[in-house]
Amino acid sequence: MDRTAQLTARLTGRGIVYDPLSTAPSAASLHVRAARVLAANWTGTSTVPSRHLYPHQWSWDSAFIAIGLRHLSPLRAQTELETLLAAQWGDGRVPHIVFSPSVPLDAYFPSPDFWRSSTAGRAAGAPRTVQTSGIVQPPVHALAAWLVHRADPGLSWARGFLARVYPRLAAWHRYLLRRRDLGGGGLVSVVHPWEQGMDNSPCWDAPLARVAPAPARSFRRADLDHGAPGDRPTDLDYGRYVRLAADYRDGEYADGSGEFIVEDPSFNALLIASEHALARIAAELGTSGSARHARAERLTAVLVERLWDDASGMFLCRDLRGGAIRERSVSGLVPLLLPGLPHDVSGALLNTLRGPHFAARTGLVPSYDLRGPAFEPNRYWRGPAWFNTAWLVERGLRAHGEKGAADDLRTAFLHAAGDSGFAEYVDPGTGEACGAPGFGWTAALTLDLLHDTDGVMETGEEGGDRR
Ligand code: SER
Repeated sequence: MDRTAQLTARLTGRGIVYDPLSTAPSAASLHVRAARVLAANWTGTSTVPSRHLYPHQWSWDSAFIAIGLRHLSPLRAQTELETLLAAQWGDGRVPHIVFSPSVPLDAYFPSPDFWRSSTAGRAAGAPRTVQTSGIVQPPVHALAAWLVHRADPGLSWARGFLARVYPRLAAWHRYLLRRRDLGGGGLVSVVHPWEQGMDNSPCWDAPLARVAPAPARSFRRADLDHGAPGDRPTDLDYGRYVRLAADYRDGEYADGSGEFIVEDPSFNALLIASEHALARIAAELGTSGSARHARAERLTAVLVERLWDDASGMFLCRDLRGGAIRERSVSGLVPLLLPGLPHDVSGALLNTLRGPHFAARTGLVPSYDLRGPAFEPNRYWRGPAWFNTAWLVERGLRAHGEKGAADDLRTAFLHAAGDSGFAEYVDPGTGEACGAPGFGWTAALTLDLLHDTDGVMETGEEGGDRR
């Protein structure tokens, strides 16, 4: 056996899926390359999304990274989540960035001196010893914690992992459900495009148009030192991001008064999936999870009631200050993750995925409508295909029994991730790499898809016994 064959056999023995007849790139070499990216981005206590463009810890990145890291080192995966949760605020919010004190201030903007968490965030209970941003990101964490626990229950029990993270995760969900139901209808709102995570999605064009941009001379973007301007948000977008964040900070991070208040399908779908995961964690710890499962089911019904749009066959965002947002983005497909969706809704989502707005030549899922007026194949969340959303849709396809479509998306994912050098995102038509190379969640989710083809997400009440 040559070296690759030996390695492949070893990886196969460890549960890594390797099909020699498949057209997917060699699983063994992909595994090794992805593991190298995660090693290079590891700081000792967490993983940076990218050494240069994003040199601190990001909240939803860490959750996705932990999901992949569990296959390499369950201990590192646990530590990743615990480091993030250690920076949780007293009101329960989990900040979107935890700053590393060893990184120079000008390496990333907005830096800790912009957010001033330990002073402006004092009333909201920001930690004193670590600097963070004051906004949040999608709540993927309970889902990640559950998957990490399941990867090595022995280690998890020995370290008391679930018992330590459960109260923090519960407080995080409580913050979202109690303090962020700004529309009063039961769904959680985001107050900044960075919170939803798809920063410059055309969905935000209308709500952002109401925001007076901060003057360009009042800040210096650091992202353009490392990213091509054509791949990144525009200066006008940045001016508006800065204004919104500064206003939130100046109001001491109190919720409800900002100009940008949006209900988003993927943010809420991830909360629902995580609420199901939290129910499983509760049950594993010996308390009943049924109230949480029931709440997750109720939230699924509210999501459909408030954000489903029959005419477009997908979920749409709702601007609470302005009204309906008609733009189609991948966010509206992510709820496919939820097994509790009504049949007609999941059926329509499957059709939309296969239809002209989202069926891209690479087999990946574009971040925005291929036929939309604002589509740009390279510019961040205005068209490029991202790997975290592909992973979520792949899991959703499996949850709904669409094995063929899930296998195709998985193959497209692995090809594009490997060929692009684990790029941050790619052109959905050509697979050309965009953004940062060696991106954390691209590598991590590659590992997850190499290891786990049955894709049981355990996002519904019944899924727990299927493994
Ligand atoms: N995505 C943002 C950035 O580009 C921050 O969360 O910096």
